[in-house]
Amino acid sequence: MKIAIGNDHAAVELKNIIKEHLEAKGHEVINVGTDTNDSCDYPAYGEKVGRLVASGEAEAGVLICGTGVGISIAANKVKGVRACVCSEPYTAKLSKMHNNSNIIAFGARVVGSEMAKMITDTWLETEYEGGRHQRRVDMLDAIEG
Ligand code: RB5
Repeated sequence: MKIAIGNDHAAVELKNIIKEHLEAKGHEVINVGTDTNDSCDYPAYGEKVGRLVASGEAEAGVLICGTGVGISIAANKVKGVRACVCSEPYTAKLSKMHNNSNIIAFGARVVGSEMAKMITDTWLETEYEGGRHQRRVDMLDAIEG
Protein backbone atom coordinates (compact mmCIF):
# COMPACT_ATOMS: atom_id res chain seq x y z
CA MET A 1 0.00 0.00 0.00
CA LYS A 2 1.16 3.56 -0.67
CA ILE A 3 1.09 5.44 2.65
CA ALA A 4 1.85 9.14 3.21
CA ILE A 5 3.46 10.08 6.52
CA GLY A 6 4.00 13.50 8.03
CA ASN A 7 5.01 15.00 11.35
CA ASP A 8 6.32 18.06 13.11
CA HIS A 9 9.50 18.52 15.13
CA ALA A 10 7.99 16.73 18.15
CA ALA A 11 7.75 13.46 16.26
CA VAL A 12 10.78 12.95 14.01
CA GLU A 13 12.09 9.96 15.93
CA LEU A 14 8.71 8.22 16.12
CA LYS A 15 8.01 9.01 12.45
CA ASN A 16 11.25 7.24 11.48
CA ILE A 17 10.33 4.22 13.58
CA ILE A 18 6.87 3.99 12.00
CA LYS A 19 8.24 4.60 8.50
CA GLU A 20 10.77 1.77 8.89
CA HIS A 21 8.08 -0.46 10.39
CA LEU A 22 5.77 0.13 7.44
CA GLU A 23 8.53 -0.38 4.89
CA ALA A 24 9.53 -3.64 6.56
CA LYS A 25 5.96 -4.79 5.99
CA GLY A 26 6.26 -4.00 2.28
CA HIS A 27 4.45 -0.66 2.16
CA GLU A 28 5.64 2.24 0.04
CA VAL A 29 5.98 5.29 2.31
CA ILE A 30 5.80 8.88 1.04
CA ASN A 31 7.55 10.94 3.71
CA VAL A 32 6.56 14.62 3.56
CA GLY A 33 8.72 15.55 6.59
CA THR A 34 9.74 17.22 8.70
CA ASP A 35 13.03 15.43 9.15
CA THR A 36 14.84 17.76 11.52
CA ASN A 37 14.28 18.70 15.14
CA ASP A 38 14.04 22.39 14.21
CA SER A 39 10.76 23.91 15.34
CA CYS A 40 8.21 23.91 12.51
CA ASP A 41 4.48 24.38 11.98
CA TYR A 42 2.34 21.21 12.10
CA PRO A 43 -0.46 22.56 9.83
CA ALA A 44 1.87 22.41 6.80
CA TYR A 45 2.53 18.70 7.26
CA GLY A 46 -1.06 17.83 8.07
CA GLU A 47 -2.18 19.58 4.91
CA LYS A 48 0.45 17.83 2.75
CA VAL A 49 -0.60 14.36 3.88
CA GLY A 50 -4.27 15.34 3.69
CA ARG A 51 -3.90 16.42 0.07
CA LEU A 52 -2.00 13.25 -0.90
CA VAL A 53 -4.74 11.09 0.60
CA ALA A 54 -7.67 13.15 -0.72
CA SER A 55 -6.23 13.11 -4.25
CA GLY A 56 -5.67 9.35 -4.17
CA GLU A 57 -1.90 9.72 -4.59
CA ALA A 58 -1.64 7.90 -1.26
CA GLU A 59 -4.08 5.22 -0.14
CA ALA A 60 -3.70 6.05 3.55
CA GLY A 61 -1.99 8.59 5.79
CA VAL A 62 -0.19 8.64 9.12
CA LEU A 63 0.29 11.91 11.02
CA ILE A 64 2.25 12.48 14.19
CA CYS A 65 2.83 15.62 16.24
CA GLY A 66 3.19 16.10 20.00
CA THR A 67 -0.39 15.08 20.70
CA GLY A 68 -1.70 14.18 17.23
CA VAL A 69 -4.33 16.89 17.66
CA GLY A 70 -3.03 19.88 15.73
CA ILE A 71 -1.78 17.91 12.76
CA SER A 72 -5.06 15.97 12.46
CA ILE A 73 -7.11 19.17 12.64
CA ALA A 74 -5.03 20.49 9.73
CA ALA A 75 -5.60 17.35 7.66
CA ASN A 76 -9.32 17.41 8.39
CA LYS A 77 -9.56 20.83 6.72
CA VAL A 78 -8.85 19.10 3.39
CA LYS A 79 -12.05 17.98 1.67
CA GLY A 80 -12.39 14.21 1.73
CA VAL A 81 -10.12 13.64 4.72
CA ARG A 82 -11.29 11.77 7.80
CA ALA A 83 -8.34 11.88 10.17
CA CYS A 84 -8.70 10.37 13.65
CA VAL A 85 -6.44 10.81 16.66
CA CYS A 86 -5.98 7.51 18.50
CA SER A 87 -4.02 6.60 21.60
CA GLU A 88 -4.92 2.91 21.52
CA PRO A 89 -5.87 0.28 18.93
CA TYR A 90 -9.59 -0.01 19.78
CA THR A 91 -10.36 3.53 18.64
CA ALA A 92 -8.14 3.05 15.59
CA LYS A 93 -10.04 -0.09 14.62
CA LEU A 94 -13.48 1.46 15.09
CA SER A 95 -12.43 4.63 13.27
CA LYS A 96 -11.91 2.47 10.18
CA MET A 97 -14.88 0.12 10.67
CA HIS A 98 -17.46 2.83 11.33
CA ASN A 99 -15.99 6.16 10.19
CA ASN A 100 -13.91 4.96 7.22
CA SER A 101 -10.99 7.02 8.50
CA ASN A 102 -8.36 7.55 5.83
CA ILE A 103 -5.68 9.08 8.06
CA ILE A 104 -4.56 7.89 11.48
CA ALA A 105 -2.91 10.32 13.88
CA PHE A 106 -1.25 9.96 17.24
CA GLY A 107 0.96 11.89 19.61
CA ALA A 108 4.66 11.24 20.03
CA ARG A 109 4.36 12.72 23.52
CA VAL A 110 1.38 10.47 24.29
CA VAL A 111 2.09 6.97 22.98
CA GLY A 112 5.26 4.90 22.97
CA SER A 113 6.68 3.39 19.82
CA GLU A 114 5.25 -0.10 20.38
CA MET A 115 1.77 1.31 20.98
CA ALA A 116 2.15 3.49 17.89
CA LYS A 117 3.06 0.44 15.80
CA MET A 118 0.07 -1.48 17.17
CA ILE A 119 -2.29 1.44 16.46
CA THR A 120 -0.97 1.73 12.90
CA ASP A 121 -1.06 -2.02 12.18
CA THR A 122 -4.55 -2.46 13.62
CA TRP A 123 -5.85 0.46 11.60
CA LEU A 124 -4.29 -0.72 8.32
CA GLU A 125 -5.54 -4.29 8.81
CA THR A 126 -9.13 -3.23 9.53
CA GLU A 127 -11.74 -2.89 6.77
CA TYR A 128 -14.51 -0.31 6.58
CA GLU A 129 -17.85 -2.01 7.26
CA GLY A 130 -19.98 0.19 4.99
CA GLY A 131 -23.70 -0.60 5.27
CA ARG A 132 -25.46 1.55 7.85
CA HIS A 133 -22.29 3.57 8.36
CA GLN A 134 -22.21 4.89 4.80
CA ARG A 135 -25.14 7.25 5.37
CA ARG A 136 -23.30 8.83 8.28
CA VAL A 137 -20.03 9.09 6.37
CA ASP A 138 -22.00 10.71 3.53
CA MET A 139 -23.36 13.19 6.09
CA LEU A 140 -19.78 14.02 7.13
CA ASP A 141 -18.90 14.66 3.48
CA ALA A 142 -21.98 16.87 3.10
CA ILE A 143 -20.84 19.11 5.95
CA GLU A 144 -17.77 19.95 3.85
CA GLY A 145 -20.08 21.42 1.21
C1 RB5 B 1 4.51 21.42 19.30
O1 RB5 B 1 5.09 21.90 20.48
C2 RB5 B 1 3.09 20.91 19.59
O2 RB5 B 1 2.25 21.99 19.82
C3 RB5 B 1 2.60 20.07 18.45
O3 RB5 B 1 3.47 19.01 18.23
C4 RB5 B 1 1.24 19.42 18.63
O4 RB5 B 1 1.15 18.74 19.83
C5 RB5 B 1 0.08 20.28 18.37
O5 RB5 B 1 -1.09 19.84 18.38
